[in-house]
Amino acid sequence: MSVQDHDYDAFLSTYPEYAAAQHIDELRAQEFARVDDQGHIYLDYTGGSLYPERLLREHMALLSQAVLGNPHSQNPTSLAATSLVEQARADVLAFFNADPEEYDVVFTANASAALKLLGESYPFGPRAHFLLVADNHNSVHGIREFARSKGASVAYIPLDPDSLRAPDPRPYLEQGASAQPKLFAFPAQSNFSGVQHPLAWVELAREYGYDVLLDAAAFAPTNRLDLGLVHPDFIPISFYKMFGYPTGVGVLLARREALERLQRPWFAGGTVQLVSTKADLYILSHGHEAFEEGTVNYLSLPAISNGLRFLQETGVEHIHARVAALVDYLLTMMQNLRHSNGEPLIQLYGPRDAERRGGVIAFNIVDPNGRLVPYQQVEAEANEARISIRSGCFCNPGAGEYSLTHTADEIRACVEGASREGAFDIDAFRACLGEKATGAVRASLGLVSNFSDARAFLDFLITFADRKAEDFPSSGGCN
Ligand SMILES: Cc1ncc(COP(=O)(O)O)c(C=O)c1O
Repeated sequence: MSVQDHDYDAFLSTYPEYAAAQHIDELRAQEFARVDDQGHIYLDYTGGSLYPERLLREHMALLSQAVLGNPHSQNPTSLAATSLVEQARADVLAFFNADPEEYDVVFTANASAALKLLGESYPFGPRAHFLLVADNHNSVHGIREFARSKGASVAYIPLDPDSLRAPDPRPYLEQGASAQPKLFAFPAQSNFSGVQHPLAWVELAREYGYDVLLDAAAFAPTNRLDLGLVHPDFIPISFYKMFGYPTGVGVLLARREALERLQRPWFAGGTVQLVSTKADLYILSHGHEAFEEGTVNYLSLPAISNGLRFLQETGVEHIHARVAALVDYLLTMMQNLRHSNGEPLIQLYGPRDAERRGGVIAFNIVDPNGRLVPYQQVEAEANEARISIRSGCFCNPGAGEYSLTHTADEIRACVEGASREGAFDIDAFRACLGEKATGAVRASLGLVSNFSDARAFLDFLITFADRKAEDFPSSGGCN
């Protein structure tokens, strides 16, 4: 028996829930064989999931026998496409246990497009308020620009720099209580730290009169989101993050009542009942139709039904259990990694344990003298080892700034110092932050992550033991 076999047996006995979901190992062998055949260690599931080959076969079988036209007509090929699109809509609602009377499904290109639809349509005005947790994706932060342009106030809930969790939101919700309307945004799972912010905040904020935007893009791939239990008003999701194929399709799941209160800033093909050039008027459609601009991605939408069925059959709970076991194992092992002088090799950002967090681990490598190894170097060496990770700030500047301890004054001063005659020099900005880390490394687990991936990753990290930071080139920033 090799060391690896022995480790695996020990792992299985520590995490029986992983052992109980070993059908996912068979799935990986059958449907994802290309990954191991090509020697890939894939640890960027929060960037995008890998897809099972089955989804390609199923979709190709449909496309090669169906005759599908643009769903905006009433002819037979159009009606065939409409029926598949509506089936996908119903499948999305069923997957998230959303009552069709309560929720509507707006198909978009991705989660960011869903967020933009919301941002540009939310009835922000001088009496409105936008409250958001600092730990959000840029595509959520961007909504503040729509809010401000219409005179609304914007407030952030800060993070604890150590745990990267947010405090009790009640005082912040209270501060905006007299505003109308008001929107509160938080991610169900951070794409930076993996922190899972409490879903109980949804009902709490609604009690204060807020509409709630729950970003589930990083959460939905490995956690059950049950919209029979929690009732956020708006939920953006990208399907490629859930099952890998197809890209280019996302959704804004929205409570029908909240969707009706949004105000579209324009109209487009597909969103109107009537437009007149002579009378210069238009009458919008209702529900999702008012938001699906132009032609939906009707050839790809049937693949969403297949992907959701695949996840259902595989079992989100099983995927979740495996990811939770692997994260617990990795966190424990990473914190035990040492240089020969006994100093730790890894600086973790966010929670040190697997409680209330998902399959995302953000960290930097530190040298035997406690100096940071440039994350670009870590990524470059990972690339050589065919390990796919991500580095930088992962489009989550808030969690980046809190964990890397950049202050507002520092950032403003460095932006000013790096700006000359209207041009911004990102390298000068990074240099200005001096010794502080300007980004981190992220490993994220998902659908078919397994013990071998975790072991290979740990073996890779160990190669940095006893190496000095000054031996590496440095540069880089949060993006
Ligand atoms: C939490 C979160 N929200 C939103 C997004 C944006 O998703 P997309 O790039 O598919 O629009 C991401 C992407 O990583 C994410 O992790």
